[in-house]
Amino acid sequence: MSPFFSFILPTLFLSFLISTHPVNGQNLVNETCKKIARRDPNIEYNFCTTSLQAAPTSQCASLQRLGMISIKLVRHNVTDTRVYVKHLMKNGKLDPYSKLYLKDCYELFSDAISSVKRAMKYYNSKRYDDANMQKSGVMDAATTCEDGFSEREGLVSPLTKRNRNTFQLSAIVLSIMHEIKKGSNV
Ligand SMILES: *[C@@H]1O[C@H](CO)[C@@H](O)[C@H](O)[C@H]1NC(C)=O
Ligand SMILES: *[C@@H]1O[C@H](CO)[C@@H](O)[C@H](O)[C@H]1NC(C)=O
Repeated sequence: MSPFFSFILPTLFLSFLISTHPVNGQNLVNETCKKIARRDPNIEYNFCTTSLQAAPTSQCASLQRLGMISIKLVRHNVTDTRVYVKHLMKNGKLDPYSKLYLKDCYELFSDAISSVKRAMKYYNSKRYDDANMQKSGVMDAATTCEDGFSEREGLVSPLTKRNRNTFQLSAIVLSIMHEIKKGSNV
């Protein structure tokens, strides 16, 4: 083979890979987000595509992979939020009530992290109903944490945005599992 061909062929092949796979993967992300945003009012299309496309492997993913990617996003989010809560609790300027609610949130998120881990295990063995239960627990944790702060007048939750992210990402996971189940007639 001439040097020209030994160079040009792999290059052509590479550019073929690069040009086709991201399109397919992006289509899947877009199509999936369109479908689930239509079905679940908690899911915004733009939030869904932005979140799923940010994940490095979302390109050329299957629906099954996309579900796992979104579960991992939830896990990162909850783990990061728990660290953030711990950091906030160390802040001496916080009023005692906020500290109390933050402590509740910390415990809720600790349990939520265990739930996400269990959900990943169930998801991998295609036990979607069991994974579903665990994910719902994560959504409850975000809601319960957020609601705590609204119990007392004048308190502002420092976690609203994070709780919304966790809630919506979890809703995406639930919807993707729903789509998988529908597709496989489980
Ligand atoms: C997917 O959606 C994004 C943002 O909504 C858009 O920029 C992109 O062109 C879409 N890709 C395909 C293949 O439809
Ligand atoms: C949590 O999810 C949101 C929405 O996808 C994202 O913007 C944010 O970076 C995530 N945070 C972490 C720590 O993963």
